[in-house]
Amino acid sequence: MKLRVTIVTLFPELFSALEVGLLGKAMERGQLEVDFVNPRDFTTDKHRTVDDAPYGGGSGMVLMPGPYVDALEKADPDRTRHRVMLTPQGKRFAQADAQRLAERGDLVLVCGRYEGFDERIREEVDEEISLGDFVLLGGEVAALAVVEATARLVPGVLGNEQSPEEESHARGLLEYPQYTRPWVFRGREVPEILRSGHHEQIARWRLEQSLRRTLERRPDLLENREFSPAERKILEAIQKERREDSGGEAGEGGPNR
Ligand SMILES: C[S@@+](CC[C@H](N)C(=O)[O-])C[C@H]1O[C@@H](n2cnc3c(N)ncnc32)[C@H](O)[C@@H]1O
Repeated sequence: MKLRVTIVTLFPELFSALEVGLLGKAMERGQLEVDFVNPRDFTTDKHRTVDDAPYGGGSGMVLMPGPYVDALEKADPDRTRHRVMLTPQGKRFAQADAQRLAERGDLVLVCGRYEGFDERIREEVDEEISLGDFVLLGGEVAALAVVEATARLVPGVLGNEQSPEEESHARGLLEYPQYTRPWVFRGREVPEILRSGHHEQIARWRLEQSLRRTLERRPDLLENREFSPAERKILEAIQKERREDSGGEAGEGGPNR
């Protein structure tokens, strides 16, 4: 399994970050293949123009359909690849999307600039993804985030095959607290249980910490999640404890299922 990505961008030089660290290694090993198509190469005028003023007036410049649609056709001539547009109007990117895109394995990512895309470019893509509810100057940083989050799920890209399943969001929960050496740092000790050697108890402690942390920081993640019987039991105990701490008042958030 590998990830093949073509990035349609006016600024391919921004992607040098992909050559660093584990992604650079993944490219050397052929687990990740990235290439670029620049819409500016599909312009016909002397100034290599890719944008123009919006019809109807208004500020800024809109990306013209011609160079972008030609670039998409160059990247995906047979219309077989999964085309993703980076835009603040898209679905907010989440771990489940990274998993889904890793399974597809063959992507074209389209990055905008300026005031964004002529609407007819949107009609040429399969989905629109946003990095979050804020506006960037261009889609390149968002595309980098999508490539990084997706490529690290390709088997073999991370040294340790276990880690993507354990971490935050992989199971719909935030990760439990992690510790490494030293055992005591400036008077603060690592929880005793982590040195106990009781694998089952450590697993239970970690699950409880994950549930606690998610309940405190991101109760929204728990709203539509299915719980195992063990998770439900722990969650009920945490909720009971919270009710007692708040003197029996309601309003603790989290699931009631
Ligand atoms: C300045 S933005 C244009 C925003 C556009 N006028 C709008 O309101 O939707 C320029 C480009 O940056 C990219 N971009 C900006 N914010 C983004 C975000 N949150 N997620 C993904 N891409 C984003 C898109 O490719 C967009 O076409």
